[in-house]
Amino acid sequence: MSETATLEIDGKKYELPLITGTENEIAIDIKTLRGVTGGVTTIDPGYKNTGSCESAITFLNGEEGILRYRGYSIEELAEKADFLEVAYLLIFGELPTAAELEKFHSDIKAESHVDEDVKKILDGFPKAAHPMGVLSCLTSALVAFNPNTVNVDSEEEMYRAIVKIMGKFPVLTAWAHRKRAGLPLDYGDNSLGYVENFHKMMFHRPNDEYSVDKKIVNAIDKLLILHADHEQNCSTSTVRIVGSSHAGLFVSISAGISALWGPLHGGANQAVIEMLEAIKEDDGDTKKYMAKAKDKEDPFRLMGFGHRVYKNFDPRAKIIKVAADDVLDSLGIDDPVLNIAKGLEKEALEDQYFVDRKLYPNVDFYSGIIYRALGIPVEMFTPMFALGRLPGWIAQWKEMRQRKEPIGRPRQVYIGETQRAFKQIGDR
Ligand code: ACO
Repeated sequence: MSETATLEIDGKKYELPLITGTENEIAIDIKTLRGVTGGVTTIDPGYKNTGSCESAITFLNGEEGILRYRGYSIEELAEKADFLEVAYLLIFGELPTAAELEKFHSDIKAESHVDEDVKKILDGFPKAAHPMGVLSCLTSALVAFNPNTVNVDSEEEMYRAIVKIMGKFPVLTAWAHRKRAGLPLDYGDNSLGYVENFHKMMFHRPNDEYSVDKKIVNAIDKLLILHADHEQNCSTSTVRIVGSSHAGLFVSISAGISALWGPLHGGANQAVIEMLEAIKEDDGDTKKYMAKAKDKEDPFRLMGFGHRVYKNFDPRAKIIKVAADDVLDSLGIDDPVLNIAKGLEKEALEDQYFVDRKLYPNVDFYSGIIYRALGIPVEMFTPMFALGRLPGWIAQWKEMRQRKEPIGRPRQVYIGETQRAFKQIGDR
């Protein structure tokens, strides 16, 4: 393989270096392009061909359906690790020893409270407010209660900021739900594991003894692991770009939450269930919705199908599909919406339109079904995704700051008016 790529513009040739990653991915390094060509830029809306950084966190091969965190396959991690171990792995680069994991958990627990005044902010939201908006706002508000700037060259200060957000975020997520559900806000129970404590904070009723089926905790743990990182997706790129201005960790994550909210990204899990419900109400007429999805005049898309990167299958969807069947079987749930999902999946996988465009069910097609079976309300599906993605956002923000990446500032090709004279208001 040659070490450069040659670019020719107006008969003039430019040599641009090639970079090869550890998995042999090749990129043309265009860092010097504008300088050597006298201002030529590249254009790539949606960044379909553009690498924004070099990263050692997550490897993803969309053609072969491979997803690895720090070199470990998602299949193995989902089977053998728990969410906190995976969080540690993503953030610090290695699986923790038992002592490291215990310390990490205990430091997180020491931060698993938020200032009581945060409740006043929450009070100001209407009850019907979408929890993603509430969560983004409360995460950003954490800065007001923790105003110290983090010195990113200090491992200790970085660590403190990380355990702070890992401790407080589940509380805020659960509170966003409790506010909607009209339940009193509480702080859970630090004698429980991270995920079980989160479940308690979500569902504990003040007048009931709390208990939960371990299968439910395990299913949530697995879902969080599967969502924990996905390299430079929309919300992660947002976190990196906001952080690249040296905005702090909490506000960068708050911006990531907003990016995740959209139905083309994390909001798809909610959109899937809403779509399946709509089909159910429409006499289960999946054919009608398949036709709508294929009709170019109709903006409707089959939610939970297709992925920017995975063009054969989504490895997370494979794991989740099995988990969904297990959860539904063991909880004895017979959900008509699930039967519609199965029918839709079969039709789409055999349909030429979907086959030609390599559109397969993605992680969100099944995650919504499991969340629903676990009793998680539909508006909380995307906040659950955010809780899972938190370690990935932290890891990516930390990497970006420690690699001292420059501020993110893309170029454009201007297509507006050329210079013109100002017209007085009466002449317009
Ligand atoms: N239903 C119907 N047609 C679709 C769908 C879909 N879900 N997804 C893509 N297509 C079609 C497009 O219309 C386009 O057709 P064309 O070539 O005839 O114009 C072709 O497939 C390629 O689609 P793009 O939008 O160019 O693909 P892109 O990679 O930009 O988009 C995306 C990926 C956003 C995920 C898209 O497939 C989609 O909107 N899916 C539904 C929403 C969803 O499930 N999002 C969750 C993604 S996973 C996650 O964020 C965790």
